Amino acid sequence: MILIVRINVTAFFMMLLALPSMAMAAVTYADVKPILRERCEGCHQAGEIGPMAFGTFRQTRPWAKAIRQAVMERTMPPWHADEETSRRIRNSRALTGSEIEAIVKWVDGGAVEGSALKAVAAAARPTGWQLGKPDLVIRVPGYKVPAQGTVQYTFLVTPTNFTGDRWIAAAEWKIDQRAVVHHMNAFVRPPGSSYLKTAPVNQLYVATKDERLARRDDEKEVDRRELLIGYEPGYQPAPWGEGRAKLIRKGSDVVFEIHYTANGADVEDYSELGIYFAKQTPKERVLSLAPADSKLAIPPHHARYPSSARATFTRDVKLISMQPHMHLRGKDFDIRATYADGRTDALLRVPRYDFRWQTTYFLAEPIVMSRGSSMDFLAHFDNSANNKFNPDPSKTVYWGDQSWEEMNIGFIEVAFPAEADGNVAVLSDTSKPAPGTASGKLVGR
Ligand code: HEC
Repeated sequence: MILIVRINVTAFFMMLLALPSMAMAAVTYADVKPILRERCEGCHQAGEIGPMAFGTFRQTRPWAKAIRQAVMERTMPPWHADEETSRRIRNSRALTGSEIEAIVKWVDGGAVEGSALKAVAAAARPTGWQLGKPDLVIRVPGYKVPAQGTVQYTFLVTPTNFTGDRWIAAAEWKIDQRAVVHHMNAFVRPPGSSYLKTAPVNQLYVATKDERLARRDDEKEVDRRELLIGYEPGYQPAPWGEGRAKLIRKGSDVVFEIHYTANGADVEDYSELGIYFAKQTPKERVLSLAPADSKLAIPPHHARYPSSARATFTRDVKLISMQPHMHLRGKDFDIRATYADGRTDALLRVPRYDFRWQTTYFLAEPIVMSRGSSMDFLAHFDNSANNKFNPDPSKTVYWGDQSWEEMNIGFIEVAFPAEADGNVAVLSDTSKPAPGTASGKLVGR
């Protein structure tokens, strides 16, 4: 009892002491500029995806109230994993509590400029290849992105013409029109795969639904397609790590999946993917896996439909990255590990999934998944009218790659000894159909 009173009294006096200094030290633009520069300008500058630039006080001031709201509600910077699981992620964009506080205080104090700040150059933008001259470059052959309107997902299939299997030490995106490229994924399509099999090569292509979903019944999961590398705003090229490489088999094609968004001006995009061959056989192979629940069947008006998939490792691997993938009805996404010894671990929690951001979450330190460990990919979908992005709450929604259809994929990258084959995990969907509905039929991925 006494102790509690003492603490309260001490806290009270400390508060009194702090008050005058808090009132005097008005937060000015000069105080928040470093935060804006570090955390916002990567996107909020001319030529980037952010709709306005925050380079100078005059550019920023009209947005003060919107900035306050966006940082308080944590809608900006775009970052969707929760605080706890973000701590293990190296590319987290989340603001710290004190950064948010500084911005809020600045706006509440009138968003003043304070002592004139010398012009600071905008955050440096990368030009040219960051990892040096690539051994192979695949280039988008000019896509005309309109000033307005929705642009369909666009594909580009490019044969590698490799005469033998090749180890790839790194791949890098060099994005041309950064203001309109919302995301790009490059997949490796091995020779046996039926993914986009009927698409023409070396030309940009809007595939039909049947083409995108076609899949041979006997096609093994590992033969399907592998995510080589993704791009999204804020992307930093990074090799997979010393002694690690991905394997592209002889006869494989590289398939770009491109999501452009109109940004007010007609532009033509010539983005490039650079591929760097490994100088020697790597110690570890990096493989991207895609556990998925393709049997999902989301009933009409269901506000929190659960869907789950699992990867169970059949040999020791190291987990490097995770990328949850859902569409318009995606609500939240959890990735959990159950280690071979029974311990469980929350690897990634995305409480407010946003389909507009296809974020790859890179672990700062790889996590060992020993043989017998598993990862569960738990998605929820909101097919109710309360979901403002829902195109039609009265429909049962099945697997499909159009935005009005749904997907639950948990792309992951794992590393394991290079001499091992790629069958390192068993992938399964673990959903139970919602009461009163038939499970969706497997229509391919
Ligand atoms: C990774 C890119 C990126 C970063 C980093 C980023 N923004 Fe944004 N911002 C956007 C995009 C794109 C939009 C347009 C709306 C959308 O697509 O969500 C936007 C919109 C906004 C808006 C308009 C209102 C709203 O909430 O939609 C505000 C305000 C804003 N950003 C503030 C910030 C601030 C402040 C920061 C840094 C603390 C920041 N942004 C960092 C990409 C970014």
